[in-house]
Amino acid sequence: MFITFEGPEGSGKSTQLRMLAARLRESGRAVFETAEPGGTPIGLQIRRVLLDAANTDLKPTTELLLMFAARAQNVEQWILPALGRGEVVLCDRFTDSTLVYQGSARGMGAEVVYEVDRIACRGLVPDLTLVIDIDVETGLARAHRRSVRTQDMETRMEQQDLSFHRKVREAYRRLAADELQRVKLIDGSRPEPAVAADVWAEVQGLVKQSKEAGP
Ligand code: TMP
Repeated sequence: MFITFEGPEGSGKSTQLRMLAARLRESGRAVFETAEPGGTPIGLQIRRVLLDAANTDLKPTTELLLMFAARAQNVEQWILPALGRGEVVLCDRFTDSTLVYQGSARGMGAEVVYEVDRIACRGLVPDLTLVIDIDVETGLARAHRRSVRTQDMETRMEQQDLSFHRKVREAYRRLAADELQRVKLIDGSRPEPAVAADVWAEVQGLVKQSKEAGP
């Protein structure tokens, strides 16, 4: 099972990923946790270039290709091998982020994203994608508080203007409406346990489906 978490800034998706990983492990499953961009040591170096607030000159095409460069490394080095060992792979962001941030909010279009995805991810599509939805102002305020607290300098994307982040949220909501089977929209404005209960219900739905589909 390959499950991805998505959402605008400050949606709480990373916390939800960790909670789901713990619950799956308690139920006896082997879980592999990773993130994009930056899941591998090489990806982490690429992440620094992508998110360094000082890199204001980074061009949209460079941004898109670096997102996929980090992902290609992760797919080959960690994700495909973990899936091959039968582990549940949980990934914090994947190609849907590129579709939403670069394809929609940056205006590069979906076609170019799918084109590079074919090379970088070699047909790997999540079985389930959980979009933790949050209104833009609340999410950005949360993300900003966290960056200040942790003295995080990797805030280049967070610092995009409000209209950029509104496009991100809208694109996620459209994606969930277009891909009802794979992409589930979850209201992230509620307390963490309530969000986690919805996440768990969606994952149980996927487990049931795969049992019905047989080996
Ligand atoms: P994170 O804070 O969830 O780790 O995500 C890093 C930032 O990078 C976040 O602002 C979303 C952005 N991003 C993209 O613009 N495109 C992508 O493909 C990915 C994976 C992340």
